Amino acid sequence: MNLTLPNTNRANILVVDDTPQNLRLLAGILSDKGYQVRPVPNGKLALSAAQKMPPDIVLLDIMMPDMDGYEVCQRLKDSEVTKDIPVIFISAINDVMDKVKAFAVGGVDFITKPFQVEEVLARIETHLKICSLQQSLQEKNQDLATAIYQLQATQEHLIQSEKMAALGQLIAGIAHEINTPLGIIGSSIDNISNFWDENLEKMPQFFQQLSEESQACFLALLHRSTNHETLFTSREKRKIKQQLRNELMAGGIENAEEIADSLVDMEIYDRIEELLPFFKLPDWEVVFNTAYQFASFKKSISLIQRATAKSGKVVFALKSYAHFDSKQEKVQANLHDGIEMVLTLYQNQLKHGIEVVKNYGDLPKIMCYPDDLNQVWTNLIHNALQAMDYKGILTIETKQQESDLVLKFTDDGKGIPPEVIPKIFHPFFTTKSAGEGSGLGLDIVRKIVDKHEGTIAVESVPGQTSFTVSLPIY
Ligand SMILES: Nc1ncnc2c1ncn2[C@@H]1O[C@H](COP(=O)(O)OP(=O)(O)OP(=O)(O)O)[C@@H](O)[C@H]1O
Ligand SMILES: [Mg+2]
Repeated sequence: MNLTLPNTNRANILVVDDTPQNLRLLAGILSDKGYQVRPVPNGKLALSAAQKMPPDIVLLDIMMPDMDGYEVCQRLKDSEVTKDIPVIFISAINDVMDKVKAFAVGGVDFITKPFQVEEVLARIETHLKICSLQQSLQEKNQDLATAIYQLQATQEHLIQSEKMAALGQLIAGIAHEINTPLGIIGSSIDNISNFWDENLEKMPQFFQQLSEESQACFLALLHRSTNHETLFTSREKRKIKQQLRNELMAGGIENAEEIADSLVDMEIYDRIEELLPFFKLPDWEVVFNTAYQFASFKKSISLIQRATAKSGKVVFALKSYAHFDSKQEKVQANLHDGIEMVLTLYQNQLKHGIEVVKNYGDLPKIMCYPDDLNQVWTNLIHNALQAMDYKGILTIETKQQESDLVLKFTDDGKGIPPEVIPKIFHPFFTTKSAGEGSGLGLDIVRKIVDKHEGTIAVESVPGQTSFTVSLPIY
């Protein structure tokens, strides 16, 4: 430790003794050593001198008339101004009990008269040093306390800016997540409105002129045009297009290239042979073009539906962030009904390669928020389908286990790497490409499960990923 000590030789010493020779003697010795000495003959004067100008140390006789040394010391210790000044007793009394008393009232040392000059000087020097070390330590402590306070303030500031940064990220994420569906909704509405402008007047005439055969084909084309564009990558689509063109050409159809293009846009990929006679009818072109426009009309509507659902999801997540209380009440519900409803909604995506295995146990109805729980099943099933690339086995097991309902969703998809598992419930964490996933699904799931005071667990190895939801029966 590197402490700067004051020059103790310059220290200011108050010497208190009622015997004039003693007083002179002590004052003389100390002045000779360069100390500033203030000699006083009694306790009263000592106290007022110390109050006016606190000395660095007090040499105090014990036996004095009116006010003895103990009392003087006591009073010095009682005063805020003088309490820290070291007091050394100098006395002819050499009784142990008196020494004890001297220390008890706050003295730091005791010198017995007759004294050795060297001893007095050494003790004064020591106590001055101790005192100045103490002062230094106090200052250092104060500095440390200030530093800690500043650190805490900085830390709070950092936490605050960290929070602001997180909030900024959240808002940027949300802005993006809402902007994308809004863009889709906007362009879909443009399509619908163009369709309307271009076709409304032509429609009555078109339907009147339609032969029975063409009408049947028109409706078949519309029925078969589906809306799950995410099912194939553009590379796969190119392959399908080539295959369709070959089939059309083999069936002797002209414009095979153009027709194959349109069929892929309409998501009609198979059973082309059924359509071959249609492409030979005289009015096939106008019928096919109109069906194509109706199909894109239908597609625009389904895009709007999906985009609305997506922004609804973001709004739902936002509401749960703000601890928004939807004020709905819990109702009695059968959880199988909700799962079945979600499976029905996903029917289109399931029928092209997903086998759903249901191991349903006997579940009692429970008090819950069924709409929220449907979000849970939707997100878990949707994730499972995406993980399996829409091909594989989705197993749903339900059972009652003591006072919990346990619902387990297992897929045989690619699985979740162990290092990713801790992050999957974080909002906006996704491994999917933009547009395919927003990373909010499992965050919403966890919040809803929490709201039901339940738990959710995940286990995953490649080829087997299970999400298990446990909900208490109340
Ligand atoms: N069954 C699963 N198999 C493999 N990975 C999964 C499964 N479920 C979730 N994940 C992983 O967890 C991530 C986060 O899932 P979450 O549902 O929160 O977001 P998302 O599916 O990416 O997007 P969103 O659900 O908002 O459309 C996913 O991106 C995926 O990497
Ligand atoms: Mg998801």
